[in-house]
Amino acid sequence: MNGKNGKYHRLYSDLAWLWPLWGSVEEYREESEEAVELIQKHAKIEVKTLLDITCGGGKNLFHFKKHFDAYGLDISNAMLDNARKLNPECNFYLEDMRYYDLKRQFDSIYLNDGIAYITSADDLLRTFQCAFNHLRAGGVMICYAEFCKEDLIQNKTDNTVSKTDGIEITFIENIYDPDPEDDTFESVMIYLIREKGKLRIEHDFHLCGTFKVDVWRDLLCKAGFEVTEYPKGANTFNAPSFVCVKSKY
Ligand SMILES: C[S@@+](CC[C@H](N)C(=O)[O-])C[C@H]1O[C@@H](n2cnc3c(N)ncnc32)[C@H](O)[C@@H]1O
Repeated sequence: MNGKNGKYHRLYSDLAWLWPLWGSVEEYREESEEAVELIQKHAKIEVKTLLDITCGGGKNLFHFKKHFDAYGLDISNAMLDNARKLNPECNFYLEDMRYYDLKRQFDSIYLNDGIAYITSADDLLRTFQCAFNHLRAGGVMICYAEFCKEDLIQNKTDNTVSKTDGIEITFIENIYDPDPEDDTFESVMIYLIREKGKLRIEHDFHLCGTFKVDVWRDLLCKAGFEVTEYPKGANTFNAPSFVCVKSKY
């Protein structure tokens, strides 16, 4: 896990300027709209506010803010700077998703991308409990088991090319699980940055968590949520998803 300044994940610290170039804001529209639909379908209260936990560069927030008064929380100030540029009208919290007390609650919570950085079941429970405490009764949290143990593909490599203002960047990401018996896997990134014909190669290492779907479900219930589960295939991520309601009683 990185420190509060995010210094161990280069993508979220010295190389955070790359994030706006890795996937357009438009590419986040469909998944964000799907989450909005689920929130509106399952909420037992009128939903006016949303907290995006691990909001990163604010690409999801860009779509959420059309529907809700949207807030972001992230451990990396460099990523929050990206999010602020894209969403100057939103408010942000610099916090660790496992430990925070904002002294307020939200009508809905989106907990996605960054949950991959939780590497133990204890921290997963802590993260769910923190989110539960910040959700209003009758509100909804949406999360996805994107890297669940059942579906993790060994030694998978993807690459994406981005061209803008004289810079061409090739993002290469390799996922590898050295020990399928434990709860972690490695995500290794290589960035080929070509500026005015000059090549610069940077690399990055992220330790991530992988848990069985049963573990997700049990910990969400233990945190206090009423959970409705959707199978993979029901959403853009092609991952099992959980709609988590905080009971009114
Ligand atoms: C892939 S990015 C999220 C991108 C985001 N969905 C967007 O719309 O731009 C993952 C984020 O998780 C954040 N993160 C990782 N560990 C965290 C923690 N313990 N608490 C809060 N944020 C964390 C990183 O700083 C990073 O910004």
